[in-house]
This record gives sequence, structure tokens and C-alpha cells, in this order.
Amino acid sequence: MCFGGKYCVFLFLLESILSDPGTTNRVVLLDTTTVLGELDWKTYPVNGWDAITEMDEQNRPIHTFQVCHVMEPNQNNWLRSGWIQRQAAQRVYVELRFTLRDCNSIPWVSGTCKETFNLFYLQTDEPLPAGTRFRTSDYAKVDTIAADESFTQTDLGDRVLRLNTEVREVGPVTHKGFYLAFQDVGACIALVSVKVFYKRCPSTLRNLAAFPDTVPHMDSSSLVEVRGACVENAEERDTPKLYCGADGDWLVPLGRCVCSIGHEEMDGYCRACKPGSFKAYAGNTKCSKCPPHSSSHDQAATICHCDKGFYRAIKDSSAMACTRPPSAPRNLASLINDTALFLQWMPPSDTGGRKDITYNILCQRCDGSIGDVTQCEPCEPDLRFIPRSLGLTGTSVAIIDYATHANYTFHVEAVNGVSGLGVAARSLANVTVNTHQAGPALVGVVRKDWATQNSIALSWSQVEQPPSDIVDYEVKYYEKEQEQLSYSSTRTKTPSVVVTGLRPSTVYVFHVRARTAAGYTAYSPNFVFATAAEDPDIADQGQVLVVVTASVGGFSLLVILTLFLLITGRCQGYIKARMKSEEKRRTRFHSGHVPFSGIKTYVDPDTYEDPTQAVEEFAKEIEPSYICIERVIGAGEFGEVCSGRLRVPGRMDIAVAIKTLKGGYMDQQRQDFLREASIMGQFNNPNIIRLEGVVTKSRPVMIVVEYMENGALDSFLRTRDGQFTVLQLVGMMRGISVGMTYLSEMGYVHRDLAARNILVDENLVCKVSDFGMSRILEDDSEAAYTATGGKIPIRWTAPEAIAYGKFSSASDVWSFGIVMWEVMSYGERPYWEMSNQDVILSIEEGYRLPAPMGCPVTLHQLMLHCWQKESSQRPRFNNVLSFLDKLIINPSSLLTLVKDVQSFPDSPEDMPDYPLFISIGDWLDSIKMSQYKNNFLAAGYTTLDSISTMSIDDIRRIGICLIGHQRRIISSIQSLRLQLHHIQQSGFQV
Ligand code: ADE
Repeated sequence: MCFGGKYCVFLFLLESILSDPGTTNRVVLLDTTTVLGELDWKTYPVNGWDAITEMDEQNRPIHTFQVCHVMEPNQNNWLRSGWIQRQAAQRVYVELRFTLRDCNSIPWVSGTCKETFNLFYLQTDEPLPAGTRFRTSDYAKVDTIAADESFTQTDLGDRVLRLNTEVREVGPVTHKGFYLAFQDVGACIALVSVKVFYKRCPSTLRNLAAFPDTVPHMDSSSLVEVRGACVENAEERDTPKLYCGADGDWLVPLGRCVCSIGHEEMDGYCRACKPGSFKAYAGNTKCSKCPPHSSSHDQAATICHCDKGFYRAIKDSSAMACTRPPSAPRNLASLINDTALFLQWMPPSDTGGRKDITYNILCQRCDGSIGDVTQCEPCEPDLRFIPRSLGLTGTSVAIIDYATHANYTFHVEAVNGVSGLGVAARSLANVTVNTHQAGPALVGVVRKDWATQNSIALSWSQVEQPPSDIVDYEVKYYEKEQEQLSYSSTRTKTPSVVVTGLRPSTVYVFHVRARTAAGYTAYSPNFVFATAAEDPDIADQGQVLVVVTASVGGFSLLVILTLFLLITGRCQGYIKARMKSEEKRRTRFHSGHVPFSGIKTYVDPDTYEDPTQAVEEFAKEIEPSYICIERVIGAGEFGEVCSGRLRVPGRMDIAVAIKTLKGGYMDQQRQDFLREASIMGQFNNPNIIRLEGVVTKSRPVMIVVEYMENGALDSFLRTRDGQFTVLQLVGMMRGISVGMTYLSEMGYVHRDLAARNILVDENLVCKVSDFGMSRILEDDSEAAYTATGGKIPIRWTAPEAIAYGKFSSASDVWSFGIVMWEVMSYGERPYWEMSNQDVILSIEEGYRLPAPMGCPVTLHQLMLHCWQKESSQRPRFNNVLSFLDKLIINPSSLLTLVKDVQSFPDSPEDMPDYPLFISIGDWLDSIKMSQYKNNFLAAGYTTLDSISTMSIDDIRRIGICLIGHQRRIISSIQSLRLQLHHIQQSGFQV
């Protein structure tokens, strides 16, 4: 308590200064509150300042310096600290805590009493020798210090002295140390503590790299670039870097290290994989459990070794299970008919754990025997297997041209990718086939008598007398080039035939067999004849072409064809077409063509052969030193997004957002990153995010845009649930529609219009952002792959764009309707938790999002208009804008609200009874509203069916008062209804 004495110090105030939280980025050079011994500060003159040391309850000294010569004129009292070593500091900060009485509170002092004091410093490389004369002129002034607070009145009318804290920057300091000095010119001051510190970025681990303690740059606007060193068992991907900011904060992490093989990231370090797990590649993936039939016994395994009897094929990845050869094929059977012998089998019962099973047919002919031992030899080479004998993927094979009256043994072997790697026996199934026929071949040589383009006349003789009369002959033939089972046959009663219906210039294989009363005899050998050529000229060319393709292969053919097209001038059309589009682009874009609307046309940067040219044309290059990065505010696909200031000499500083491109990028990534700037740079509209420029000539590559204080619209609305008037919300939609009208008139289709891609400034102005993603959409976490392989944010996208990629300004209008819905529901997720597939089906069936709670009918009607299935029926953006303007001019049009809960799409009363097997409790847990379980149960709502008909009034009636909670519950009920309806439509039972 202050009792009004000359020196009035409030000890209770001191307690607050002993604790000093959150100072890890400060290095303290002096703190008078922690000095245990004497401070040994000097005063000039000696009776000016008083040093007072008191003891606190823990017997620690409390050093204070006081002065109060307010009655006497011309005061000049100096207090000088001891020598303070600078250490690594470049700029030091002095934090002073003091009380200062205001002169009005002291009677009779007007004219002599002052309310400020001065702070000075003196740099030296060594402490001044004792006895050095104090020369005030040696000291440089830092600042005049005044109190922010002096006395305040308590409830009891007492006047209480207030503790002031003032911080001043001193420096740059370059000598080894310095003194501080305090000049009093007639004030009543108690200097309670002096703390001297400098800031540093504390040593840290980031992206598996260690960064040392770093002192910020002397110039507070520059960042110190620091390279990190990978932690143990990590390796560099891109050089890891951080920037140390003036406030001791680390900014803009670039590059990274990744854990080496056998190690995984844990708590910022790389730890060895435990036994039983492995990691085969360096990267920031986790160790994986050993795949089946393999194990690792040591730590830091880079591979798991296969258990006995199991193997890995050369092409198998280390993540695949070890496998073994298959067992033998099952149920091998043979079948023989007039023309071929067939083998059929079933896959092995044990595939060895693999899917790459193939079969080989091994054939032996076992006609003779020596004693009891059957003699076998390899089958004759002209036996034909269809489709082939080795590497069969199916489970059957046909065999033709086998000998009659022969005994064949066929072995069908099952093999997979690891067959032959171990010592296991081969997996064979065997079958023996006897090919007895009515007799040996009777037909000998078959001759070609004549040939035309489509027919060949054949005749033959018999090699021996038939055992019985020949009934007829069968002539079998097929194209030599197509050795398949497809063949043709014809019959003749005489030993000659004219085979018709053949292709010109084609080689055919023929063989003939006779049929007697005893059945077919064996076939004659194969005879090969060709039909005549179609036209001598064509035939010659064809021949040349065949020779060329056969000898030099497909690539050469391509070259020849291209040359041919060039020579005949067929490529010219293509070249001209390209030139035309190039010319068109140049004339359209470079002559600054302005269509009737008065708005320039958008130029797709992809039409530039060299994309850097597009950047140069549409984006200003900014000198990197003009950019002052202050904070990291987000992370994009390409790198950090920071906020900062753009300080162009001669221009006012402006707040900017800076998108950085992570180090170690590929050329393509750089192009994709800068593509956004070449698009944005073409726009100039108050509702389109403005590009300030780019940094491309130095690293990191950056895109600098205007700063939007309230960030993305969706998260902004979520944090401000229910806090805006309908008119304010309509104002936001209007802004977006202004931006979109401009874009559509420029001919630019956004493709990813969504609240997350709208930025909001401090005045609630909404601006369209996120360009350049129209081609890639990689950056949008909402984008999902469609059946056609495109990546699309399903919930925001018009059906024709999802189904067949038809993006247009009309599909942007659909997305705008969804954004309106997001705005009116304060950032609710469109279609709630429904799956993308269900969303597509529901839209296809004609359902549309119901009006959010409290939504004016007019706005929901506009949304529904934007969601017309037929894109030509949707309004244009300029129509949307005029409509919103009309609503704003006539706000009474916004007063009629859609009934709090709309029945959707049929009246809920009409819905059949669904056996919903989820409890009210589970449902409330899932939407994080568990606290209301009793409200529902007490009011008799025990099944999901029963809640599906609840209105907002019902929700209020059961005692849920918070508007945000009402909104969440009602949204979820609407979502449930939509899902129920969808389930009903698709015929599923819940
Ligand atoms: N996030 C991304 N871009 C931004 C911007 N321009 N302003 C604020 N936050 C942002």
C-alpha cells in the first residue's frame, strides 16, 4: 500500500514481474529481478537516484531505484547500469518496469515536477576502468520514457500507483558490451526492474531437420536463411531451410529430410523399424509389418526374409507376401474328335499364394516298349498346340496334326512366378491318349492345278489301296498367317476339289483325309498354296510393304507413313490448323482485342508454347527485397502461404498474401504453380483477388496477392454462425456474382467455385480466388476422381460436367447456387455426410438441396434455378446479379422464409416405416450433440423414424435453446431424410 511518502513503491506489484512466461525466443542479458548480489549501479550525482534493496519472503533481493526531487528545479540525475555483455545480440531490447507519480498528485510542485525520464546507452568493448569520469555526452539517447499509467482511483477512493512496462529497442549493437543510463530531470520515479534481452529463433526440429539457435538479422525486415541438418538416420530430399524472422519466429519451412530405409518418423526423429517390420525405401512412410510368410528378426530391417519353402520372384516387391510354387493341376482329362485332341484340367488346389499361374504342356510319344518298360520319346515337332504349348493362361489346349494310331502322354505342368526358385518337385498332372483312327493316311501328294484370286483347284492321288471303299474326302484348310483353330473344310467324292471363297494373295495350308466305312483315315501331310494377286500393281506395292514391315518393323512403317502423308500433302492441313490457332491466339490476345462487352477475353496460358512467356506477359516481377514475410497462414499444394507486406519504394505499403513454391520442385510443378498467376494477372475486378506480382527470378518462387483479412469464406462463416443479417449474407453473394459475371464475360470458366475458394476481406467483401486449378484440381481436397478419370469436386459440380466433362459458365452457375446454399447455412457441407455417389444419384433423380434454416424463399428459388438439369435453362451470371440487386433494393422480398423445416422431397408423414437400426444416442454422438440424449428420450423420441418429422419448433420445445445446436440438429435431420429417401429410391432396406 502507498501511504503517500516520498518513495512510494508497491511491493505487491513486484510479484507480477518475477514470472515471465512465453520467452523461449528471448535470451536475457540482464534481469535485475534475478540478480542475487549487489547490482553496483552508479549514480551521478550520488544523492540523485537512490538504490534500495529489500528482501522478499524467500530472502531474495528486490532491487529498485528511486528518485523524486520534484520540488527542486533543474534536476539532472543519472543512474548507470553495470557493463552488459552483448553476446550474440545484434539488436537488444530493454524492458523497464516502473512507477511514475503524476505531478498533479503532489502539491506545490508545478513548474519543477516532471513526468518523464530518458534512456541512454554507451557501447564499449570492455568495462570502463573504475574511476572513469562520467561524461553524459558519451551516451547516446534511446528515447524519452513516459508513463502510460500513473495513479488510478480504487473503490475506496485511494489512489493506487500503477506499474508501467515499456520496451525499447537499442542498437544495432556492435561492440562487445554496453551500459544503460537513466536520466531523471525532476520526476518521481521508482524503477522496479530492468530486463535486457535479445531475440533469437530457438533451435528446433522441422521436417526431420535440426536448425540451430539463430539470431535474427540486424535489419528487422530481412529474414535469416538457415539450412537444417537431417536428424540421424534421415536423408535430404530438398535442402531443408527455415527463415528466422526479426521476432525470433521461424518462417517458411522449405525442403525436407526423410527417414532412411529401415527407419520411420516418430516424434520428429527417425526410429529403427521394430523386429517383425521393415521399410524398403527412404521416405516418410511408416515401417510395414512383414508380409505373410516372411519375418525380420533384427531392428531396422529393410526387407523381411521369406520363411522356408516360400520365395519372392525377382519382380515381386518387398511388400508382397512370400509365395511358393503351385500344386499340380487337377482333373486333367482328354477328349478326341474328328479333328483335334483336347486336354482340359482344373487349376491347382494350392496356387502358392500367387495369381500368375500358367501351364506348360510337355508331350511324349510312347508307342514301343522293351519288356514291360514303355519306351517314350519327345513328340514329333509338327504336332500343333492351339493356342500354344507353353505359358498357357487358360485351362485347356487343343492339339492337331497328331499321328494316328499313336500313344501320347501329356504332362500338364502348373508354374507360377516362383516355380524353379526352390528345390520343390515339378507340379505335373499326366494323361495318356491313344489316337487310333480308321487307318493310316490314304492321300499322298496334293497338287495345285490352278489358282485365281479367290479359289484354288486341288487334286491328289492315293498312296495305297483303301481297305474298303472311299465314301468321300475331307479337305481342311486355313490361312497360313493365322495359325488358329479356325479352319474351313469341304468335302468331295472325287480326288479333286475347287476351294472357293479365298482371299487374294493369301497363302493357305491344305490337308486331305479320306473317309471309309470304317471311319476317317489320317490326314495327308500339309500342303501350302497361295491365291493369285488382286491387281498386279497393288500386288507389287503390297509385297513391298510386307517386306518393309517385316524387315524394319512397326516404327519404320510409321515413319514411312508419315513421310507419305507429308509428300502427299495430307499433313499440311494439320500444320495449317496449328498455325491458324496460333495466329488466332496472337491476334486475339496480343492486339488487346476487346469484344463488344468491353471486357477483354481471357487467354489460356496453356496456349503458350513457353508458359514462362505467359507469366512475363500477365504478371509483374517483384523485387524479393520488397516482400516482407510476417506469418505463415496456411499450406497450399505447392508450399506455404504467408502473410506479409509489400514495400515498394515510393508506394504505400500494402498487406499481401504470399504463396511460396516449395524447393525441389520439377519444371512442371513450377509451371502449374505460376499458371495461377498468369490467369489472375489478366483480371481486374473488385471481386476477383488481385495479383500484385510474382517472384520468379530468385528462390523461393512466390505469387503475391492482396491480403484478405477474414480468410476463406467457408471457415469464416463457420466461426461466425448466425451472426450476420440476411442482407449481409446476400451482400456476400452479390460480391461473388459480380466477380463471376466478370469472369464469364472474359470467357473464363472457374470449375471450382466453392465457398472455400472465396476470400473475405475486413469489410466482408468477397472475392473469387483459386485460379489455375481448373486444369489440375489437385489442390482441392474436395475433388474426387470420376469414372472418366477427371478430378472433380462432386458436390459443387453440375451433372453434365461430372458426367461428360462439359464445364461452362452454366456449370459455374450451378456451383454458384451451391455457394449460395453454403452461405445461407453458414458453411454447412452440401449434402451433409452423403457419399459422392449418393449425391450424384440423388441429383440425377431430381432431388435438390432444401433451403437452409431461415432462408428466404426468393433465395432458395434462385438456388433451384441455378440447379436446373438443363444447363441452358439456368440463369446467366448477369441475371443472377440483377436478381440479387433487386432483392437488396427491396429487402422486404427477403422476409418470407422457407418453412423452418421443409418436407423433403415428400412429406415425411408419407414415408414408410424404415427399420432404422441406429439409436438416437448413436445419432446424437455422431453429430457431437450427446448432451441432448435425455431431452429426446424424455420427450418420447426413441427411434430415428420418430425424429425424422421433427421441426425446429419441436427441437426448441424439447429444450434445445442454443441456435447453433438447433441448426446442427435440424441439418442432420434433413440429411437423414434425404438419405432415407435415396435409400428408398434405390430399393435398399436400411
Ligand atoms: N489465404 C490464401 N490466400 C489468402 C489471401 N489472399 N489473404 C488471406 N488469406 C489467404
